[in-house]
Amino acid sequence: MLAIRTGRHGAVGVTTPIGDPGRGGSISRRSIGGEVSSASDMLSVYDYSALAASGPSEAPCGASRSQAACRGRSPSCSTTSAPQWSPSPPALEYLTLPAGDKTPAGPPGAAPESYDEDMEPEGGRTRSTWMDSAEVPGRPSLADDLTTDVCVVGAGIAGLTTAYLLTREARKVVVLDDGPIGGGETGRTTAHLASALDDRFYHLEHLHGEEGARLAAQSHCAAIDRIESIVAAEGIDCDFTRLDGYLFVAPGESADELDRELEAARRAGLEVESVARAPMGSFDTGRALRFGRQGQFHPLRYLAGLARAILAGGGQIYSGVHVEEFESGPPTRVKTATGRQVTARALVVATNTPVNDRVVIHTKQAAYRTYAVGIEVPAAAIARALYWDTADPYHYVRLQSSKDDATPGATDILIVGGEDHRTGQGDDDTGERWTRLERWTRERFPMAGAVRSRWSGQVEEPADSLAFIGRNPLDKDNVFIATGDSGHGMTHGTIAGMLITDLVLGRPNPWAQLYDPSRRTLRAAAEYASELAKSNLPFGEWLTPGEVDSIDDVPPGEGRIIRHGLQKLAVYRDAAGGKVVSLSARCPHLGCVVEWNGSEKTWDCPCHGSRYAPDGRVLNGPALSDLSPVAQPELARRQ
Ligand SMILES: Cc1cc2nc3c(=O)[nH]c(=O)nc-3n(C[C@H](O)[C@H](O)[C@H](O)COP(=O)(O)OP(=O)(O)OC[C@H]3O[C@@H](n4cnc5c(N)ncnc54)[C@H](O)[C@@H]3O)c2cc1C
Ligand code: FES
Repeated sequence: MLAIRTGRHGAVGVTTPIGDPGRGGSISRRSIGGEVSSASDMLSVYDYSALAASGPSEAPCGASRSQAACRGRSPSCSTTSAPQWSPSPPALEYLTLPAGDKTPAGPPGAAPESYDEDMEPEGGRTRSTWMDSAEVPGRPSLADDLTTDVCVVGAGIAGLTTAYLLTREARKVVVLDDGPIGGGETGRTTAHLASALDDRFYHLEHLHGEEGARLAAQSHCAAIDRIESIVAAEGIDCDFTRLDGYLFVAPGESADELDRELEAARRAGLEVESVARAPMGSFDTGRALRFGRQGQFHPLRYLAGLARAILAGGGQIYSGVHVEEFESGPPTRVKTATGRQVTARALVVATNTPVNDRVVIHTKQAAYRTYAVGIEVPAAAIARALYWDTADPYHYVRLQSSKDDATPGATDILIVGGEDHRTGQGDDDTGERWTRLERWTRERFPMAGAVRSRWSGQVEEPADSLAFIGRNPLDKDNVFIATGDSGHGMTHGTIAGMLITDLVLGRPNPWAQLYDPSRRTLRAAAEYASELAKSNLPFGEWLTPGEVDSIDDVPPGEGRIIRHGLQKLAVYRDAAGGKVVSLSARCPHLGCVVEWNGSEKTWDCPCHGSRYAPDGRVLNGPALSDLSPVAQPELARRQ
């Protein structure tokens, strides 16, 4: 859950490309022929006439009505029916996520361990609470060219939910990911399952009208219902729990916000009431809003369960497969870094930020970093619920049982998140942000014990507060994207699975227009303009001096920007101090200068959020290619 209310933070805007935009881009949209004009045409060979095009229920959102919410057979409805395929799962090997190093259990305030040069960081060097308490199925790399019905790129919650639901519809699905299952932001979430949307329903009403706000609430409720039903149908052991969510006022903020939100959330159909305080143990929050029927789960165990179900249903999942080229078709074709191809009738790009879209979507959303800490508290000291304050950026809080790890004694892990900032535009040492989160926690919960984990991750904030799910703008009809999750990626990713499944199968879906990636929301013009400025500002970095004068000035285990004539170099020195990696600082997406992220040991692009390992390997889009090595780093040495 994130702190970015675009109505208060500003907006997402168009970034003007400078330099040579084609230099690093390897996106190709060559048509490769075919007689079919859309995914639904292509898939019409299947008999889906029996699938009633029924939308979600009109039942009050958030009321105890998970079955009432499912009428008809649209995937947008929850169902607890058993899967259609053989229940005997294939034999699988499991792995724990190989992301970065492990933040040590230790006394409060202890510094994280130094970066392990041998580790392959996925989203950075830190590890979330989930990474050490789940195993995901290990998957092979792609050895052959394949042909399938639907190719899904991205094995996070959006990609795997889509793959799961399509597999249940008897479609052949191939999932490709350049890391392990859940190695992206889904492994770094805090996994609140919330229909209480963080941009506020009164703000959504302003942007999308009362009906739009109602549909948004309905879709998030249906997503939680859908997760619940998948957990039940597949028997996934992921601690899924229904619980309340509480919104309370931060110091210095007005309680009027609660009144406005109470009325708007009720109009949107949510079960919500005003209460004297949230049940946060010793911390008296003052008046709060209670939202019913929210949820939480262990995100990686859920993904592991989805993956098993996909494989059992005949779907295929491949790891370590970096997709570099996208041909729209129809049929679509993706090409991997190793030259393998997957040809499909429809393509779903679920890479968190769409790597097949060079500019359009990146003018409508902005990448933010957000931070989380997991701190021991005595079991049951704080009621199990979701908690959010009205600060900007706001704090988001939940509990997780520590029953699965080796800690003696009964403890809960209090997971507190917040401290968001535009990626690559943190105004201070990013590590300070965990310190501030910890301080915030200890001031309110004196019983808080040792810090168990600290991590950060990335979210895409849409200018008009809703995700972009559907057909990729300016692309062929059989290419779909899911992005703009903000702090609601668990539910938005699940909505993506339901909505894209309907679109691929040619079924109407009542949320299609609301989430249409081609939409322009006129009432969000101020937000667009504000974030536009933040996206364009970093291009001025080409005119500034370097951070240090010489490679010799780069400290061990750190990266620094060095000016060398007209060039800027991104130089990293390994922790032992002996090895130096010298790269062009030019982001291959649209040419911004990357920034060093000392907390995650990554190069982060301040324009649209691409991220790179210390050796320049691309970790996050929209860039598809690595930072270029610079052949003569000695040029930047002190003479
Ligand atoms: C600290 C934090 C807290 C959060 N808290 C919440 C919360 O409480 N509730 C909530 O709902 N949401 C929350 N979110 C947001 C949520 O976690 C994300 O929005 C969500 O996980 C995104 O899922 P995804 O499937 O879209 O992307 P990801 O999980 O990032 O999956 C995308 C996948 O695509 C792969 N990929 C990318 N490029 C390529 C390529 N070229 N070739 C092949 N594969 C590629 C990646 O390896 C990755 O595995 C939080 C996020 C963070 C970071
Ligand atoms: S210039 Fe767009 S992500 Fe770097």
